[in-house]
Amino acid sequence: MSQIKRVGVVGSGQMGGGIAQVAAVSGFETVVMDTSAEAVARCEANHDKLLARAVEKGKMTEDDVKAAKSRLTYVTDVKDLGQSDIVIEAVVENAEVKKAIFKQLAAMFTGDQILASNTSSISITEIAAATDCPERVIGMHFFFPVPVMKLVEVINGLATDSKVTERVIALAEAMGKIALPANDRAGFISNRVLMPMINEAFYAWMEGVAEPKDIDGIMKLGCNHPMGPLELADFIGLDTCAHIMNVLAEGLHSERYRPCPKLDQLVVAGRMGRKSGRGVYEY
Ligand SMILES: NC(=O)c1ccc[n+]([C@@H]2O[C@H](COP(=O)([O-])OP(=O)(O)OC[C@H]3O[C@@H](n4cnc5c(N)ncnc54)[C@H](O)[C@@H]3O)[C@@H](O)[C@H]2O)c1
Repeated sequence: MSQIKRVGVVGSGQMGGGIAQVAAVSGFETVVMDTSAEAVARCEANHDKLLARAVEKGKMTEDDVKAAKSRLTYVTDVKDLGQSDIVIEAVVENAEVKKAIFKQLAAMFTGDQILASNTSSISITEIAAATDCPERVIGMHFFFPVPVMKLVEVINGLATDSKVTERVIALAEAMGKIALPANDRAGFISNRVLMPMINEAFYAWMEGVAEPKDIDGIMKLGCNHPMGPLELADFIGLDTCAHIMNVLAEGLHSERYRPCPKLDQLVVAGRMGRKSGRGVYEY
């Protein structure tokens, strides 16, 4: 079984960009691919900015940054992922798009390379079934912002080989992360536990139990949460929260996971949270 030396990342958005940055800083040859040349350029500019900031803060030296940058390659064609030992997919949260990518990757990488998805909610077993090598497919769920957040939730699909899991855990640790396992049920652990809490905060607001700042204040001061659930929803994106609730409802076959009407209403109004300038709060 070959040692992981080269990491390919498909999708250079918020998550793919962060994963690529951490991989390169951790010493892995890293190639990051996106179909959008604009996204790739934005990703590279973002890396330059964040790495420069790490130098200012004394977390990295100029030489560390130079070395990390020399390990990073930015491409727009999937064929240029080259000899990657693992490919981590971080494109849009859409099962059909992901399945098409995995099918293509499985045809390109026919050895013992690992095909991992950073999906936050789509079944790994379903993605793996689109390939002829489900034993090499696994979930490697990083958290935003990737350079800061310590956790990687590792999700085995039905057919994932235990050696693949071991290699992914070792990779996560080499990237300075802590890997914890979860099985392949809708929302895994993180979103299954977090999202219903956020959804319940919307219900409490809708029913007039308390105003948003008090709901957030109560959870911060009383439960020691670093961020209140409604603030956190704005940070994640209200559309993403609603989407994940629907995935839970479908996957766990229970209507109790449907998004709160108040959450749906804000999404329909275009109030998506921080990214749109307004969600529960105004920014
Ligand atoms: N944002 C989060 O907090 C978060 C946290 C954990 C996991 N995730 C998951 O990570 C994945 C990516 O999320 P994101 O927030 O980085 O999204 P994003 O929109 O910032 O980035 C997605 C990128 O994928 C690219 N893309 C689309 N189709 C492609 C294709 N066929 N080939 C290559 N690139 C393609 C887009 O151009 C875009 O740059 C999703 O599955 C999401 O659920 C997100």
